[in-house]
Amino acid sequence: MPTLFDPFVLGAMTLANRIVMAPLTRDRAGPGQVPTPMMAEYYRQRASAGLIVTEASQICAEGQGYLDTPGVYNAAQVAGWRRVTDAVHAAGGKIVIQLWHVGRISHVSLQPGGIAPVSSTARVATAKTFTKDGFVDVSPPRALRGDELPGIVAAYRHAARCAIDAGFDGVEVHGANGYLLDQFLRDSINDRSDAYGGSIANRARLMLEVMHAVAGEIGPRRTGLRLSPVTPSNGAGPDSDPQALHQHVVERLPLLAYLHVVEGQTGGARDIAPFDYAALKHRFKARNPEGAWMVNNGYDRAMAMASVAEGRADLVAFGRPFISNPDLVRRLREDLPLAPLKRETLYGGGAEGYTDYPAFAQAQSA
Ligand SMILES: Cc1cc2nc3c(=O)[nH]c(=O)nc-3n(C[C@H](O)[C@H](O)[C@H](O)COP(=O)(O)O)c2cc1C
Repeated sequence: MPTLFDPFVLGAMTLANRIVMAPLTRDRAGPGQVPTPMMAEYYRQRASAGLIVTEASQICAEGQGYLDTPGVYNAAQVAGWRRVTDAVHAAGGKIVIQLWHVGRISHVSLQPGGIAPVSSTARVATAKTFTKDGFVDVSPPRALRGDELPGIVAAYRHAARCAIDAGFDGVEVHGANGYLLDQFLRDSINDRSDAYGGSIANRARLMLEVMHAVAGEIGPRRTGLRLSPVTPSNGAGPDSDPQALHQHVVERLPLLAYLHVVEGQTGGARDIAPFDYAALKHRFKARNPEGAWMVNNGYDRAMAMASVAEGRADLVAFGRPFISNPDLVRRLREDLPLAPLKRETLYGGGAEGYTDYPAFAQAQSA
């Protein structure tokens, strides 16, 4: 049987192990939303992960919803990311970038010209975002017109091309956690009456168009997708039938390198709502036998080892443990204790609570 620590062929990539660093927003990009040398050092420290998924990165200026998150749509940002990918590759790692449009989870102070953020709806989310003034309520959005949606698809395609130009091994489209694509998926949010609202087929249309565009641009073996079928994150109320909705999506996706599924409430209860993840996996694999099934949310060593050994997952993503344990792979392999996370340095700031978490040996001798 495979173990968590065995290599894995993921699309066009060969991973050293099946442990993935989950996407983690840290709000430390520089002016112009350009990745900094400090970010390159942070990711280099974590390159023993089989795969790193970067923090969510906006595909266009309007896609930004939090202070100092990195972009991946212009030459300066591509050059900044090149430092990151070079550092990770030199350390023997693999890295994909998470492509993000926040939709209505934004604030006018973060939007070009101070305009309203866009969404599937004009209804405001009950959610906060992180701005220069700290955590504030998100701003009321403007519903995208149907004739604007090809531009959104084109922005994802362009960002995917920029990612490859920046040296990434691939991309993960962020379809989770109540952001733009999830705002189209869920009938609790999407109140449109055009071809992108109403039926499941209509609500899934934008996500499927984006996935076909991205996979068409950079190749299916470099493309992944993250979904969170039942999370209430970012004011995302439950869909009336998440199982049927997500089944529809996975049966119409292009071939992909992987599907990344957050089980339960992102960062919270794994059993917040009923959902049959095994059934979704079965549907995904039936269409996409080469595609990998990546799981996340609240995994510890024993859970992750059992999931891989029992064939419930190909890959396991760890989020919070990677923040405070740059050498998480070694700690899991050798069953060493994990260092705790400092919450006050999660978002924004400098090296403290970012690149200064020591590896285990250093921690022992400090
Ligand atoms: C500080 C922080 C930032 C996060 N940023 C992102 C993000 O950019 N994209 C995303 O899809 N999930 C994000 N998440 C969710 C994590 O990827 C992950 O789903 C969550 O932490 C649960 O996994 P864990 O129990 O292993 O930490 C973030 C979580 C935390 C704690």
